[in-house]
Amino acid sequence: MTRSAPVLTIDGPSGSGKGTIARRLAEALGWHLLDSGALYRLVGLAAERQGKTGAPEADIAAIAAGMEIRFLTDEQGEEQILLDGEDVTTEVRTEECGRLASRVALLGLVRQALQSVQQSFRKPPGLVADGRDMGTQVFPDADLKVFLTASAGERAKRRYKQLKDKGIGVSLAALSRDIEDRDRRDSERSLAPLRPADDARVLDSSKLTIDEVTRTVLEWVREKHATN
Ligand code: DC
Repeated sequence: MTRSAPVLTIDGPSGSGKGTIARRLAEALGWHLLDSGALYRLVGLAAERQGKTGAPEADIAAIAAGMEIRFLTDEQGEEQILLDGEDVTTEVRTEECGRLASRVALLGLVRQALQSVQQSFRKPPGLVADGRDMGTQVFPDADLKVFLTASAGERAKRRYKQLKDKGIGVSLAALSRDIEDRDRRDSERSLAPLRPADDARVLDSSKLTIDEVTRTVLEWVREKHATN
């Protein structure tokens, strides 16, 4: 094989549905899955636990490089995330952890430390990579790049339902504010800002079901295969 395993990148803002879609696509294709947002969340969580949220950038990057992370699926088919051997699945998905993640994501040395961690997920038969900069920075040579978006109101509603289903209580108004703040931080930052790669296909999922989005992307994967 002259080139490494194929990669399908799914980038987009918080609540665009990319996590669910990426998981569905990985299952349908039988490929590995990278949830890069979870890596930033784990760095934020680990830094907070060690009392280092305000520590120098290099210290937080050292945490990012040294974390022992495992992504598992339990008997019910639910995801399970272990940080240094401890189950942190519920904590990782809280809004608080999302805020911590968004802050550490501003640090260049942290992004640099996570670059090789993320690239190590690229293994045969292929990888579906979910994040903000998968197509622009981490896998610029990806076979297919998708930028998934949805209106801010629709994204807040989806996030609200998702958290409620997990038993995590939060108000819709607070969630909308949080999503807008986070969008602003993610798209205005100078390092790896959230934007579609020049060669990405943009898909607005505001009025589409999960099945419709999954089918559309699978169709694009097949088209790509047919032309390669
Ligand atoms: O997708 P998520 O909500 O789990 O991401 C949490 C934060 O991590 C998000 O606010 C921005 C950051 N992030 C990033 O900067 N780059 C990525 N590839 C993924 C996430």
